[in-house]
Amino acid sequence: MEDNILHVEGLKTHFFTEAGVVKAVDGVSFTLGRGESLGLVGESGSGKTVTALSVLRIVPKPGRIIAGKIEYDGGDLLKKTDGEMQKIRGKDIGTIFQDPSSSLNPVYNIETQIRDVILAHEKLSAKACRSRIIKLLELVGIPEIETRMREYPHQFSGGMKQRVAIARALVCEPKLLFADEPTTSLDVTIQAQVLDLLNELKRRLGMSLVMITHDMGIIAKMTTRVVVLYAGLVCEIAKTMDLFERPRHPYTEALLGAVPRLDMRKALRLIPGNIPNLINPPSGCRFHPRCKYATRRCEIEGPLLEETEQGHEVACHEWRNIKLKGEKVSNGQ
Ligand SMILES: Nc1ncnc2c1ncn2[C@@H]1O[C@H](COP(=O)(O)OP(=O)(O)O)[C@@H](O)[C@H]1O
Ligand code: SF4
Ligand SMILES: [Mg+2]
Repeated sequence: MEDNILHVEGLKTHFFTEAGVVKAVDGVSFTLGRGESLGLVGESGSGKTVTALSVLRIVPKPGRIIAGKIEYDGGDLLKKTDGEMQKIRGKDIGTIFQDPSSSLNPVYNIETQIRDVILAHEKLSAKACRSRIIKLLELVGIPEIETRMREYPHQFSGGMKQRVAIARALVCEPKLLFADEPTTSLDVTIQAQVLDLLNELKRRLGMSLVMITHDMGIIAKMTTRVVVLYAGLVCEIAKTMDLFERPRHPYTEALLGAVPRLDMRKALRLIPGNIPNLINPPSGCRFHPRCKYATRRCEIEGPLLEETEQGHEVACHEWRNIKLKGEKVSNGQ
């Protein structure tokens, strides 16, 4: 497809630790269409955040991107200079992380820190800058803006802080937004408000969105297509509806069973077994020690992604032989 804003191909990002090489992202490929909302889902430790950090080229040491291509708007981000990347981050690609405090500076008031981001990317007069800040804070629903913009992050609740972090991420109207578990640290009601806000902003600004989460309820509400990650590899890619109704990978079935509803967090059941050690991942299919459908072949040979129907790919030797349980979903999109 030509109209992709992002095309990640064969991405490998490893951490060279004293204990060994952690293969956090080990050959991940996916595309993102313009204006599309794509989910990256998987249990904790499956490589979601490292994938996002790789695209932004901010993988911390001892991590390194060792292979792959990251085409953004036609150019390979892995070939950009650090200076070029700095311009792209914040201006073209915005980010929101789980903990809003981590993206806000505690020693500056809200107005100052949003202004700093604007001025880092654009030359604006003080007046124009101020009215941009007010518009942004209005957009994300901050009340009493004139007063609140002079306050500091610690004077805001978690939900309000995340709204400010979203405003900061949207400063230059990015074409692409990475939201990495943006509501995990918020309570359920506030979580729904922040997700609704993100959906509305996305529609209004026409952004492409990569929504990173371990929560299938959030995937249902926020995305139209999903990439399922397990132990640094893609195990399934499908339209959100198809993934819920006709999952093809046993891990996806387990994820669907593990997190029944956005509003039923307490019912969260864990998938039996442990997330594999990524220094010495299991042989063959990395999911085989936890998979109830595993055969001898699964222990030896790693499955490749293959198409099951148009727009639906799965990496499982057994997908033709097993009937997996899906569920009906009403998509929020
Ligand atoms: N700084 C680091 N040093 C070593 N290993 C790391 C580092 N950061 C992440 N990893 C490893 O990379 C893997 C994927 O992590 P991550 O992308 O954060 O998972 P997720 O976001 O899906 O929960 C994990 O096994 C984690 O331990
Ligand atoms: S390849 Fe085998 S072990 Fe892996 S998910 Fe499929 S059936 Fe399970
Ligand atoms: Mg993460």
